[in-house]
Amino acid sequence: MLSEKDQLEKESLERAHWLKTFSLFITIVKSFLFIICATLLYITFEDSFDFNFQKQTPNKSAYASNQTYADSEDWDKVENGIHVASGLVYVDNFDIIRANCTACHSGKLVAQNRATREGWQQMIRWMQKTQGLWDLGKNEPIILDYLAKYYAPKEVGRRANIDIAEVEWYILELDKE
Ligand code: HEC
Repeated sequence: MLSEKDQLEKESLERAHWLKTFSLFITIVKSFLFIICATLLYITFEDSFDFNFQKQTPNKSAYASNQTYADSEDWDKVENGIHVASGLVYVDNFDIIRANCTACHSGKLVAQNRATREGWQQMIRWMQKTQGLWDLGKNEPIILDYLAKYYAPKEVGRRANIDIAEVEWYILELDKE
């Protein structure tokens, strides 16, 4: 039989043990809650984390370059079929291209890209979804025709095979003279 003192000591030891386990449990729950909150916050603000930086930089430079266009007298200058201020191929309905594709960024960003018609359409959809590009309406097919024609993928890769049957062979005479 335990003495009363031993009995009390045992009980308080048990209580201490239980408290320890409980506080460990609370710590684990807290960690989980923290992770869940952090994840929720991240999901909610993910877009602004990712795109804030990109969104602002090109817009700023675009305004800056629009400023220079407006200041210069070369707004409509065309050299060798290239509209100088935007760097884009000049065509009859160029104003449609200029109005819709050089408002946010330089035309050079357009001119340095190559894609098929579908590829261009995807880029336009991407800008509409994430960069605030407006609905192009009836101008869209005109713009797509323009882009697909002048900014089509460059021919890359190896040249076509030589058609051996078509080649006119000749003997190379090395010991002539
Ligand atoms: C409302 C603003 C806005 C308009 C108008 C706009 N864009 Fe953009 N465009 C952007 C932004 C923002 C980017 C991202 C720039 C960056 O990533 O540095 C971008 C990027 C691009 C890129 C580069 C894509 C890449 O993968 O790097 C191309 C090409 C492009 N635009 C073509 C066009 C064409 C063609 C038009 C006309 C139909 C157009 N843009 C009109 C906002 C616009």
